[in-house]
Amino acid sequence: MPPLANKRILLGVTGGIAAYKSAEIIRRLQDVGANVRVVMTHAATQFITPLTMQALSGNPVHLELLDTDAEAAMGHIELARWADVILVAPASADFIAKLTNGEGGDLLSALCLASRSPLAIAPAMNQGMWRNASTQHNIEQLRGRGINIFGPAEGSQACGDVGPGRMSEPEDIAELTADLFETGTLAGKKVIITAGPTREAIDPVRYISNHSSGKMGYALAEAAAEAGAETILISGPVSLTSPDRVKTIAVTSAQEMYDAALAEADGCQLFIASAAVADYRPVQVSEQKIKKAADSLTIEMVKNPDIVSAVAALQNRPFTVGFAAETATVEQGLELHARGKLERKNLDLVIANDVSDRTIGFNSDDNAVLVVEMKSSEAIPKINKSILARQLIAKIAAMIPN
Ligand code: C5P
Repeated sequence: MPPLANKRILLGVTGGIAAYKSAEIIRRLQDVGANVRVVMTHAATQFITPLTMQALSGNPVHLELLDTDAEAAMGHIELARWADVILVAPASADFIAKLTNGEGGDLLSALCLASRSPLAIAPAMNQGMWRNASTQHNIEQLRGRGINIFGPAEGSQACGDVGPGRMSEPEDIAELTADLFETGTLAGKKVIITAGPTREAIDPVRYISNHSSGKMGYALAEAAAEAGAETILISGPVSLTSPDRVKTIAVTSAQEMYDAALAEADGCQLFIASAAVADYRPVQVSEQKIKKAADSLTIEMVKNPDIVSAVAALQNRPFTVGFAAETATVEQGLELHARGKLERKNLDLVIANDVSDRTIGFNSDDNAVLVVEMKSSEAIPKINKSILARQLIAKIAAMIPN
């Protein structure tokens, strides 16, 4: 699989002659699997047309901060949440100054302010502008804030000067963008993640299950693999493709998930139980399809084994993380429920969310969670599940003993 498969890159284009190379950046990012959306400043449209960028990216180009039509289609906050990474290439001296000052008067600057995704810029300007003390000061400030600076390269410039300030080559920019996902924070670790629902058979054609889509668990597995972990994903029935570099074990019932988890647990340093495991299963699985006859039907159920508790009870237990899908808001005591689970199941961390909110959780692409430890908690506001997964993996990786 190409390194940016399924990744959502927001490409910001600012005004400068190197903007013509942005068209090529779209192509190179797409070559490695990325889905690209383009935001242009007014100055950028003087150098390359939005139509070119739209045709190449296959998505509408975003230009205005205060445009009711554009806001109705995909508002600036939604766009900020959509991006896995924001890449500004070329980044002009003027844009870099705005970014340093935290200005938000145009769409691209506002997006950079609103987004919690990693940000990378590829500066491009005349060598004198690049060498200027103000620009150098701004670049140092941005570097200090964790913003990635790609280039610039040295060489002959469009204005006839020779020196540093040329935008790096599109191919190099695409490669550096792909590298942003490879954090290595779990290198050498074995990680097991359970995901999706389980199905508990009633008879050969019927089962009891739930609405879990598996999206959160699959995003976590992808983030764990990108963090360098040997990643095993134990998945109930879902309609998602297995992430690259992940060993996926397909199971159906809770008992199968339990067996697979305990068989793999040896040598595992991190176990994340994101699966929505059925709490009960029918005592008897009828060998024949149950015929419709009586006005009512009673199915006797028995409790399933608790997978995450069993893993947390192992002698050489991994760092163990559970999920708590509750129909309770923070105000209604989400944290209390989560902390109860943490203690009862002997977990190191519980990630809790309110599944009664339809815009997050179960089938949604977004999620907002409360990360609960024994003595503290942290709320992570609504964001797309792959960014959330990376944030969670980064947080967990920092908590695991070496
Ligand atoms: O008890 P409850 O189902 O609310 O707990 C949720 C957490 O426990 C999740 O992390 C889920 O994956 C895990 N779990 C499990 N095995 C079960 C039930 C829940 O691993 N049988």
